[in-house]
Amino acid sequence: MTDPLNRLSRRAFGVSVLAFGALSAMRVAAAELKPTPTQTLGPFYPIERLAEDDADLTWIKGHAKRAEGSVIQVKGRVLDRYGHPVSGARLEIWQCNSLGRYAHANDVSTMPLDPNFQGYASIRTSAKGEWRITTIKPAAYDSPIGRRTPHIHFDVQGKSHRLTTQMYFSDDDATNSKDLLYQELGGSAERTVAKLGAPGQYDWNVILMDGV
Ligand SMILES: [Fe+2]
Repeated sequence: MTDPLNRLSRRAFGVSVLAFGALSAMRVAAAELKPTPTQTLGPFYPIERLAEDDADLTWIKGHAKRAEGSVIQVKGRVLDRYGHPVSGARLEIWQCNSLGRYAHANDVSTMPLDPNFQGYASIRTSAKGEWRITTIKPAAYDSPIGRRTPHIHFDVQGKSHRLTTQMYFSDDDATNSKDLLYQELGGSAERTVAKLGAPGQYDWNVILMDGV
C-alpha cells in the first residue's frame, strides 16, 4: 500500500517541476533577442574582387598608401536569438569608397575608384562570436531609388541561418531617416544601426534566428 505522505510529496514534486518548466519558458521568452532584419543584397555584391580579403580594408599588401578617407573600426558579435555567441560564422562585408564609388562594373558613378581601398572582407567570428574590421567611412551616394545614406553591406552565414543586410551609422541620423531602404525597415531599423562609441569606433551586433 502506498504511503499517503509519500504520495503527497510526489505530487508536490510534480507540481514544482511543472512550475519550474513554466518559469524557464518565461525566462527564455523574456531573454529572446529580435533578429537583425534582412535587407537587399543590392547591385554591387563584388563578384570580381581583389585577392586580399582580410579584416583591414584600408591597406592592401604591397601598396605604399592607405585608402583615402576617415579610418573607422566596426566591431561586434554574432549571436543567436537566445543571446548565444555564434562562433565561426562567416561575414562577407562590402562597401563603397570614401567618395561613394563601388569597385563594381555596374556602378555608373563618375566618382573615382581608390586603388588602395580593399572594399571587401571575408572574416569569421571568434569562439565568443566576436568580429572586427578596420575600414573607411563609406560616403552617401546617388542611386535610382534616391540618395543612399552611408552603409556597409553584410552577408552573415551561421551554422543554420544566413542573413543578408546593411548596417548604418548612429551619427548619420539625419540622412538615415531620408533613405528609402532604411525607411522600409520601420520599427526594426534601429537594429541595423551601429552605435558610435569613442571617435571612429562603432559597435553593432548581428542577431541570427538560429546558428549555434
Ligand atoms: Fe550599397
